[in-house]
Amino acid sequence: MGVLETIIFIFHIHITRAMASITNPLLTPYKMGNFNLSHRVVLAPLTRNRSYGNVPQPHAILYYSQRATECGLLVTEATGVSDTAQGYVETPGIWTKEQVEAWKPIVNAVHEKGGIFFCQIWHVGRVSNTGFQPNGEAPISPTDKEITPGLAGGEWSRPRRLKTDEIPALINDFRLAARNAIEAGFDGVEIHGANGYIIDQFLKDQVNDRTDQYGGSLENRCRFALEIVEAVANEIGGDKVGIRLSTFADYMECGDSNPEALGLYMANALNKYNILYLHVIEPRMIQVWENSETPYSTLPMKKAFNGTFISAGGYKKDDGNKAIANGNADLVAFGRLFLANPDLPKRFELDAILNKYDRDTFYIQDPVVGYTDYPFLEV
Ligand SMILES: Cc1cc2nc3c(=O)[nH]c(=O)nc-3n(C[C@H](O)[C@H](O)[C@H](O)COP(=O)(O)O)c2cc1C
Repeated sequence: MGVLETIIFIFHIHITRAMASITNPLLTPYKMGNFNLSHRVVLAPLTRNRSYGNVPQPHAILYYSQRATECGLLVTEATGVSDTAQGYVETPGIWTKEQVEAWKPIVNAVHEKGGIFFCQIWHVGRVSNTGFQPNGEAPISPTDKEITPGLAGGEWSRPRRLKTDEIPALINDFRLAARNAIEAGFDGVEIHGANGYIIDQFLKDQVNDRTDQYGGSLENRCRFALEIVEAVANEIGGDKVGIRLSTFADYMECGDSNPEALGLYMANALNKYNILYLHVIEPRMIQVWENSETPYSTLPMKKAFNGTFISAGGYKKDDGNKAIANGNADLVAFGRLFLANPDLPKRFELDAILNKYDRDTFYIQDPVVGYTDYPFLEV
C-alpha cells in the first residue's frame, strides 16, 4: 500500500468509526468517575455455575477476556461474600485467600485487554437450602418466611430470621469481600441489591416482616442496604462502588407494594455516600425472561441519583441507543446478548448479525460449551 492509499485507508477507518458513534450513542465515550470508558456497552453480571467448589477456575480467564475491550466495563457473575452466601451450584466466592488468588489471573487477563472490571458481591439470603449451608443449617434472611416450594425449579428451605445483633457481622462480610476484590485487582465492586437476594429481601415489604430498626418503614427497610454501601465505600472508596437494584421486580417472591417510592428513596439516599454508579433493572423485566408493558419508569431514579446510571434488562442495540440518546441511561448493560456474543460492541459498531443464545447451556458446568465457544465475527 502506498502512502496515499494508507492515508485514505486510515481516514476511512476514522470516518467509519465517527459515523458509528453518531448513529450509535452506545459507542460513544463516557467518563464514569475516574474511568474513561470508550463505549457504553457493559457486560451485565451473569451467573455461569462453572466455579467448582466456589473457586473461580482458569476457564474464566478466557471467558472474561473474550468479552473485554479497551476501556469497556465488565461486571463479574454474582460472587459470594461468605460461606452462607450460596444458593446455586458452583458459584464463585471471594471470602477465602484461595478464591482471591484464583480471581487474580482472571482480572489480569481483562486488564491486559484494557478492560475495567468490577466484582459483583452477593449473598442469597433465603434463596438457598440447607444443602448449600455450613453444617446443613438453615439459610439466613430478614424473615423466616420461606419461598414457595419448587418456585423457579429450586428447593428452598425455610430460612432462619436474623437477630438484630447478627446484622453487623453480615455487613462486615460485604466490607471484607470488597477489600478482597481490591486485593484481587478488581477496579471496584457492584453490591448485588437486586433479584430477590438478601439485600432485596430487606428492601421489599413483601418479604421484610421485621419489627426492629431493619423493618417496617421505608427508611428502616433500606437501612441494611445503605449500611452495606457505607461500610464498603469507607473500605475501598465510594469512587469504586456501584449497586444494583431491581426495585420494580418481584423475583423469588420479593416484591414491593410501592416500588416507585422505594426506588426514589434509595436513589436519593445513595447520594450521601458518593458512590460511582447505580445499576437498575428495567421495570419491563417483570418476568425473568420477557419484556412486558409497564407503567413504571426508572427516569425519576436516574434524575435523583448524582452518579452514573446503568440500565439493564431486555435491551437490544436500537433501544439501548435510544436509552442513551433520550437521557434514560448513561450506560446500558447487556446480559444474554453479551453472553452469546463475546464481541458485542464490535458487532454493534458494524451492525453485524448476532449469535443466538442457548438457554440450555447458561447454567451448565461445562468449562467450554455455551461458555467460551460462542464464535467471534469473522472479518
Ligand atoms: C445466565 C444468567 C445469569 C444471570 N446472573 C446474574 C447475576 O449473577 N447477577 C445479577 O445481578 N443478574 C444476573 N442475571 C440478570 C442479568 O444481569 C440481566 O439483568 C438479565 O439477563 C436481563 O438482561 P438481558 O435482557 O440483557 O439479558 C443473569 C441473567 C442470566 C441470563
